[in-house]
Amino acid sequence: MRILVTGKNGQLGRSIQKIVNTDTKIDKNQSPNDFIFVGREDLDLGNESNISHYFKNNKFDIIINCAAFTAVDKAEQELELVNQINHLAVKQLARIANKQQAKLIHVSTDYVFDGESNKPYLETDTPNPVNVYGITKLAGEKALQTVMPINAVVIRTSWLYSEYGNNFISTMLKLGKERDELKVVSDQIGSPTYAADLADIILEIIKHKKFRDRGQTTQIYHYSGEGEISWYEFAKEIFKIEKIECELHPVKSQQYPSPGKRPKNTILSQDKIVKAFNIKISNWESSLNTCMTILKREQ
Ligand SMILES: NC(=O)c1ccc[n+]([C@@H]2O[C@H](COP(=O)([O-])OP(=O)(O)OC[C@H]3O[C@@H](n4cnc5c(N)ncnc54)[C@H](OP(=O)(O)O)[C@@H]3O)[C@@H](O)[C@H]2O)c1
Repeated sequence: MRILVTGKNGQLGRSIQKIVNTDTKIDKNQSPNDFIFVGREDLDLGNESNISHYFKNNKFDIIINCAAFTAVDKAEQELELVNQINHLAVKQLARIANKQQAKLIHVSTDYVFDGESNKPYLETDTPNPVNVYGITKLAGEKALQTVMPINAVVIRTSWLYSEYGNNFISTMLKLGKERDELKVVSDQIGSPTYAADLADIILEIIKHKKFRDRGQTTQIYHYSGEGEISWYEFAKEIFKIEKIECELHPVKSQQYPSPGKRPKNTILSQDKIVKAFNIKISNWESSLNTCMTILKREQ
């Protein structure tokens, strides 16, 4: 079994690597040696011929695509590159997966939705992205579904955080320690997702017969942490755990304009993935505590 994981330096890629290298969660028939983790330096998804070249000499049974252009504001200025990485490279990976008879797991985002719904989004709800990042991620999903009507899985997740790299937690910890007060948006609601929880689920899915059997119709699943909060409430909890005294003020998105528009409410319904793979969804608060304990330990 050869399993390729892209985005090895990103939050999700690193979280999968950590489990594969330290845990027994991988299948008893699999070994850490079955996993090949690649970063931009090994496989540049921004370059079509580099992708073709890489796969000429490398064949896989499963491809897990964790790489993406994820900087939502920067994406507004770099349409061509973002479209290449989040859309065209996904189409190319799907074609390659077909050719190699590999299964493909691709990670997508709650930002394919416009956030105007007042109930949790189902996989069957119509996407309507409001920024370049969301538009290109949706184009990637659609291309994948067209090229691979069978043998692939798309997992949409939301508000990903981890102990790695720059994310909402690291930003809040830094600003909270530097400043006496801070304004955080309180009218965008979502479900924070610990990358380690999503990594666990992906490793569960690739063991599952439903995924392993060839010829299964390609499916989209939603996965995020359990619970609904605003960024302001998320920041409040981070400060509480870390005992940071910086005073937090809730503000409306309008008062905090950014180049990439954000959807307001992107709660994802988890029913489909829970039923399909019989998984347990972790509560956002307990996962946040786990993540922050690890952060402290590793500092
Ligand atoms: N972060 C979130 O809040 C969030 C929310 C919903 C969905 N998602 C989705 O979840 C998945 C994982 O997100 P994440 O937070 O782990 O992302 P991340 O930390 O930003 O990591 C993305 C990885 O993609 C790599 N990458 C970017 N351009 C590349 C290229 N041209 N060729 C090869 N690799 C390239 C980056 O490499 P470098 O390290 O070299 O830059 C980085 O390691 C993505 O599909 C994302 O769209 C994320």
